[in-house]
Amino acid sequence: MTELAFLLNGTPVRLADQPPTRTLLEFLREDRGLTGTKEGCNEGDCGACTVIVTDADGPRALNACILFLPQLQGKAVRTVEGIAGPDGTLHPVQQAMIDHHGSQCGFCTPGFITSMAAAHQQGRTDHDVVLAGNLCRCTGYAPIIRAAEAAASSPVPAWMDTTPPDLPVVEISSGGGASGPAGGRQPPGTAFRPTTTDDLAAWYLDHPEATLVAGATDVGLWVTKQLRDLPQVAFLGGIADLRQITPEGDRLHIGAGVTIAALRQALHDSHPHFAAMLSRYASEQVRNAATIGGNIANGSPIGDGPPALIAMGARLHLRRGDVTRDLALEDFFLDYRKQDRQPGEFVTGITIPAQSSVRCYKLSKRFDQDISAVMGAFDVTVADQTITAARIAFGGMAGIPKRARAMEAALIGQPLTRETFLSAKAAAAQDFTPLSDMRASAAYRLETAGNMALRLFHDLTGTPGSVQEVRV
Ligand SMILES: Cc1cc2nc3c(=O)[nH]c(=O)nc-3n(C[C@H](O)[C@H](O)[C@H](O)COP(=O)(O)OP(=O)(O)OC[C@H]3O[C@@H](n4cnc5c(N)ncnc54)[C@H](O)[C@@H]3O)c2cc1C
Ligand code: FES
Ligand code: FES
Repeated sequence: MTELAFLLNGTPVRLADQPPTRTLLEFLREDRGLTGTKEGCNEGDCGACTVIVTDADGPRALNACILFLPQLQGKAVRTVEGIAGPDGTLHPVQQAMIDHHGSQCGFCTPGFITSMAAAHQQGRTDHDVVLAGNLCRCTGYAPIIRAAEAAASSPVPAWMDTTPPDLPVVEISSGGGASGPAGGRQPPGTAFRPTTTDDLAAWYLDHPEATLVAGATDVGLWVTKQLRDLPQVAFLGGIADLRQITPEGDRLHIGAGVTIAALRQALHDSHPHFAAMLSRYASEQVRNAATIGGNIANGSPIGDGPPALIAMGARLHLRRGDVTRDLALEDFFLDYRKQDRQPGEFVTGITIPAQSSVRCYKLSKRFDQDISAVMGAFDVTVADQTITAARIAFGGMAGIPKRARAMEAALIGQPLTRETFLSAKAAAAQDFTPLSDMRASAAYRLETAGNMALRLFHDLTGTPGSVQEVRV
């Protein structure tokens, strides 16, 4: 049996006998009758299930449909039912949505309200970014954005304050807690919540068949869409040392548990193009949950992190029991969904250069909240109008994220001219034989990957090409 405790709209909740992969959305609607939190897609895409989760890092919006109950241990959850004050006073974002006609059918509205209230509490005014993970088909976004703008200057209501000291702290039984047994097998359907990498290493060596869950933005869908049973699960969210970003000389060590949102913020100045690309990675709610370790370990050929990290020359750090090793990230990906990872071995982090101007070009059907069709990353050095070094990697062009060696060779030692980059474009066909799928045809992929080399030329020679720029 696994016990857990968290605050729900200010009231402590203690639970036992919950399957480790029961989602918060299911619990809210089925057990608590809190049906304001809606089920739209049940896969993290629509934001109708958005809740606010607060812990020591502050409040943030998350999708309840792909959030497992054990991920809430010791945290505070606020649903749309907890956004108005105890006496019924509306939250400024609720009042503004009424004043600006931001709701019609209203199915999406609770998710908008919780996203807006989370952003309001964080003092965010980048409303387009914050609300990109909330879909609305009736209202159009203009009235909603106007409501968010109108509410921005109002103070955060006192009832929204859920500071970490208010959070309940409980021991988790049956090996689920920090002090839980590292060895010894657990009964099926239990969750292990280590608080140190050492605990995880010892436990995972004994349970190599278990599923590791970091942000659950992939694993959540295995449960909600593929209806998979995951009898033994370890939740990595409580391991503080996996969430650190640490300078190491001229490199940065990034723990596997660092979220995409935290990474985007931390690398804003030192890796500006990579950080800009990360603002197009999924949505606010997904970035707040998804980790860089999960993005690498899932082995997806279309993940956005790996191509950029490979182009930067990232090294991957792995641990199995007491044995650690590291390798170039590009060598980790062996074949489609096959990585150089042993049973019981897990990702502890990556190291990347402390600064990088790697350029990242993400091509997807939608600007926001969409997986890449092609993702190109270019780390190119120019001296005296000559290209002296080039590391290039692509996602979406092969069964794995992969270096573009022929493209690199076409650039290195060559002058910074359009002709050079046209040669690099032509070289893409030597590097890749992409597939056609629902995202893009093989021909389109090859053409656009080559065009990214031309875009790089324009970027390097002063024509602006921000990934966030929309031109009409
Ligand atoms: C709506 C939506 C939009 C998305 N958009 C994008 C996008 O734009 N770009 C993109 O790249 N991805 C996207 N994704 C995919 C997903 O967000 C990423 O792959 C994410 O980084 C996975 O991280 P996580 O922490 O949620 O991993 P989890 O789901 O917890 O785990 C993923 C896999 O990694 C394993 N794992 C996790 N941590 C470790 C570790 N430390 N060591 C070993 N194995 C580990 C798990 O066992 C599992 O196999 C999207 C997902 C959703 C639901
Ligand atoms: S129901 Fe669509 S994101 Fe959760
Ligand atoms: S108000 Fe109907 S979907 Fe948003």
